[in-house]
This record gives sequence, structure tokens and C-alpha cells, in this order.
Amino acid sequence: MSRPTHLPAGRWGFIHRFNTDNLMLKTVKQIKELKGRRVFLRTDFNVPIVNGKVADTNRIKESIPTIQYLLKAKAKVIIGSHLGRPEKSGDQKTSLKPVQKVLAKLLNRNVRISPEVVGKKTTELVENLKEGEILMLENLRWEEGEEKGSSEFAKKLSRLADIYVNDAFAVSHRPHTSVFAVAKLLPSYAGLLIEKEVENLSKLLSRAKSPFILILGGAKIADKIGMIDNLAEKVDRILIGGAMGNTFLASQNAEMSKSLLEPEALLQAADYLQKYQDKIKLPVDSVKKEVEGGFSLMDIGPVTVKNYSKIISGAKTVFWNGNLGYTEEKEYAKGTEEIAKTISKNRGCFSVVAGGDTVSAIDKLNLKSKFSFVSTGGGAALEFLAGTELPGLKVLEGKNNHTGSGIISTS
Ligand code: 3PG
Repeated sequence: MSRPTHLPAGRWGFIHRFNTDNLMLKTVKQIKELKGRRVFLRTDFNVPIVNGKVADTNRIKESIPTIQYLLKAKAKVIIGSHLGRPEKSGDQKTSLKPVQKVLAKLLNRNVRISPEVVGKKTTELVENLKEGEILMLENLRWEEGEEKGSSEFAKKLSRLADIYVNDAFAVSHRPHTSVFAVAKLLPSYAGLLIEKEVENLSKLLSRAKSPFILILGGAKIADKIGMIDNLAEKVDRILIGGAMGNTFLASQNAEMSKSLLEPEALLQAADYLQKYQDKIKLPVDSVKKEVEGGFSLMDIGPVTVKNYSKIISGAKTVFWNGNLGYTEEKEYAKGTEEIAKTISKNRGCFSVVAGGDTVSAIDKLNLKSKFSFVSTGGGAALEFLAGTELPGLKVLEGKNNHTGSGIISTS
């Protein structure tokens, strides 16, 4: 890989070029000296907790390569993450202790956790941290300043470390302190997970082979509009299902009875059907549930599954976000399952899936490894594909105005 000609070798040395037109991130591999240095590693450990235990360890597992990389280089690793949306500081329901246990098990080593984010205890623990050791901070959102992008909180976090590494792709669309403001105060780099996310999602933006099929389900149309607009010219078909499909069908005056849909998005759906009429495909049949006062459409029907599968079988690129039915109930999960199986059988296809529900649906079927890439991002992946500038990535670009002293390889 050669250095982009428009960038000086200068103090940043070699700069990784991603396959986006304008995003060049400095990555952790470019830090020359990590031994004995304190690294603040921002991870996204926002995982579901059920009865005090981590119910889905995927995001934790995905952060392991960067943690191992830092530990092997004998850095002192200070991990910060958010979990949920705590109502108050110290809310034990959102404590990262269950995550700490999983992390220690995955790494097979001791992981300490501070009872607070910043403060006396954390400072003391950081001071005593040895090379190749890990300290986790408590939930960053316990600090009021985190979601406000507070410069005061950023200063406090930056005092804990010499280097900032962000591997929290899934929260990179939030301009929060630990994602953005602190990165400006320290030499800052992307972790290996962010690198992988950007590389794979960028392929959809700039190197997607045709036929390129978008499969969209789930509920909220508003979350996906930007992405549809940005990808519409590149995609050949947009296959819609789930509650989103209900809204599109309702916009064409189909009888929906008690089906879940978004009344406020009806006009938008009608507008999109008109705008992309040659690309959008809607369900032609559905699985109904009898409910009080009528029925509810719960899943795409067998004919739709067949039609969609035929299109997907010939695809060279697929991006999938959102379940096609109410997968919480087994009898309405069939559409999602069949589509997942069809994608997994298309061996020559570059297939990407994003969004917690969809990832957990394919995980249940043991099909994750059959997809080319499974993103850890939900909203972040959609915003990335919408072409939106993500604050957490923007701040890791080659140019940097921090005042610290990052040491970067020039190899
Ligand atoms: C996610 O799970 O999508 C990220 O961690 C962001 O979480 P948030 O929507 O609570 O900001």
C-alpha cells in the first residue's frame, strides 16, 4: 500500500488509506512505542445485560484484537465504555462489572475495574497500573459531562493517559466526550475493529459489485432514509419487510388493521416508493396473526420469501439491516431465517449485516461466519453508509491538532 501522494510523509509518516473517498484514519499500528505508555482505549461494551449477566458477548469479543495488540506491546491499558442510558450516576443496573467478568475470561487474565469513572480512586489505580495490565473504568455515562461533550470531563479523562485509541465504532456517530473531545487532547488513533468496520463498510460505498441488493426491515424508517438516499444509485434492488414493510404497504392504502407501522412516516414511504419505484420491492404476502379487533402482519409470507430469495441468489453484494418479521416469536421468524440462509448460500456474494436484532438472528442460526462482514454498529453503520461524517472517525483522521506527543512509525 503506498502513501497517498497528496499527504506529506512528515511527522504522521505512513497513513492508511481506506476505500472511502475522503477518510484516512491513523491506526494503532502506527504507534511506534507503546511500552509503558498509558493508553485510554474507548470500546463499545454497550451489550444487553439480563439478570446481571452479559446476554450477547459479540461486541466484547470484537474488541479483543486491539486489547491483545496493546497488551503484547506492553502498554498500560485503561478501558472506557458506556453501557445503556443510565438515569443517574452510579446506577448499578448499568455497571460494567458483568462486562469486566466476560473480558477477564476472554483474555484469560486479571482485569481490574474502578468503582468510578474519574476521581481519586481511578487516579490511584492508574498510577499503580503496570506494563501489560488492564484497568476498566466504570460506565462513562455515569459522568454528566460524557453525553454533553464537556471539555472539563475531556481534560479529566486525558490526564489518565498518554495516548487515545478508539475502537468503539458502534458509538462513533455520537459527539460524546470520550468519543470526540478527549481525542483532541491526546495523540489519537483508531483501533483494529474500527479499521475493519471502515474497510468493510467502505466497500459498499465505493466498490460494490452489481447486482447490489439492500434488504431492509425493522421498524424505524427515519433511521434508514439517509442510507437509502446515499446508496440508491448504486443498488439494483431494495427489498423491504418487517414493520417498515407495513408502513410502505399502508402508504399504498393496503388494509393493515392492527399491524405495527409508523403513521408519521406514511408520506415519506409513499414518496420513496415513487422516487425508487424501479428498485423497491414490497411483500406480496404476509403471515397474519389474529388479534382483538382485527389482524396484525407479523412476517413476510412464503411467496415473498421465494421472490426475495431469487433476487438475493443472484446478488454480488448484499447489505442487510433489520429483521423481516417479529423474530421474538419463533413462528414469525421464518422469513428472516430463510433470507439469512439464502444469503449464506450465495458464496460469491459480498454480504454485510448490521444492527443488533439482525446480527442476533443470524447468530442464533449459527450463520455469522457465512457472512462476509458482521458490523458491530447499528446507528453508526447506517450513518456511515448515509455518507454522514461521524465525529468519532473524523477526529481520528490524519490531520491532528492535539498538543501531545504521539510517536508514529514512518515505515
Ligand atoms: C449502540 O448500541 O448503538 C451504541 O452503543 C450507541 O448507543 P446509544 O444509542 O445509547 O448512544
